[in-house]
Amino acid sequence: MQQLRRNRRLRTNDAIRSLVREYTITPHDFLVPLFVVEGKGIKEEIPSMPNYYRYSLDFLKDEVKELWAMGLKSVLLFVKVPDDLKDNKGTEAINADGLMQRAIQTVKEVAPELLVMTDVALDPYSSYGHDGIVEDGYIVNDQTCTILAKMALSHAQAGADFVAPSDMMDGRILAIRELLEKENYKNTGIMSYSAKYASAFYGPFRDALDSAPGFGDKKTYQMDFANRDEAIKETLIDIEEGADIVMVKPGLCYLDIVRDVRDVVDVPVAVYQVSGEYAMVKAAAAKGWLDHDTVMMEQIMAFKRAGAQVIASYFAKDVVKLLG
Ligand code: PBG
Repeated sequence: MQQLRRNRRLRTNDAIRSLVREYTITPHDFLVPLFVVEGKGIKEEIPSMPNYYRYSLDFLKDEVKELWAMGLKSVLLFVKVPDDLKDNKGTEAINADGLMQRAIQTVKEVAPELLVMTDVALDPYSSYGHDGIVEDGYIVNDQTCTILAKMALSHAQAGADFVAPSDMMDGRILAIRELLEKENYKNTGIMSYSAKYASAFYGPFRDALDSAPGFGDKKTYQMDFANRDEAIKETLIDIEEGADIVMVKPGLCYLDIVRDVRDVVDVPVAVYQVSGEYAMVKAAAAKGWLDHDTVMMEQIMAFKRAGAQVIASYFAKDVVKLLG
């Protein structure tokens, strides 16, 4: 038979390729994670995350202004808590004058329209480096939910637009939603880390916040990476409990999960390209083994293609600079 269909016609040159391209990346796709520390005049590079920094509040202002000017309109805040403020109760997590609460206010001061999301989990505040309260070596569920709800409320009171529980306790979305409603924070949203796997890709992040677990691992609460159907169960329960946005984490190894989730939910789906994924690209590029920019773009596009509508990524600025 004579060859009539030639798929390569649609790849002949850049113009036709652009015309038929199915997905595009824009600055609006991104959620920018930011690491905040106490002090003044601090912009310190995280050793395992080249070109990524922890900022003190004064320098956070400049960074946030720059993001806004670049068209990056959403941030996800994390704080590094001084050791002497850590305990097994999350006391500092609900301090109205804590670093997170001041960081939220600082961002809102300089960029009032920027969307501020906050990490809600106890690990940076925990003397054990775990996401919840520890009793006899076990991370207790319900007491943890109670404190997480108070933590979320305290972020809302400081001005957060969305809270992002990253702990994987059962029932925490409901606990948070109920308290926010009761206290009349009806428009404070919840982005749930709903399918969060126990992953070695979080290593560099734990360096950034000095939040590595002091004993054991996080496998009694974060998901087993051998499971696929369980991600749907976790996600649907979080939506029932009141999650406005759901998330899959990490990113690249879990694109199947992103697509599965996107196919069954009616809320926006986020993906988190985590610290270890960032570190791998930076390290290989530094050795000259991979081309940084093209590999980065290929990965970001993969998230969109898989179905993510929100991409949390340490590459956000790099990508937007490249988009021009
Ligand atoms: C804390 C939290 C973690 C990350 C986001 N929130 C670490 C963990 O669960 O151990 C990881 C982010 C990254 O690696 O970039 N609950």
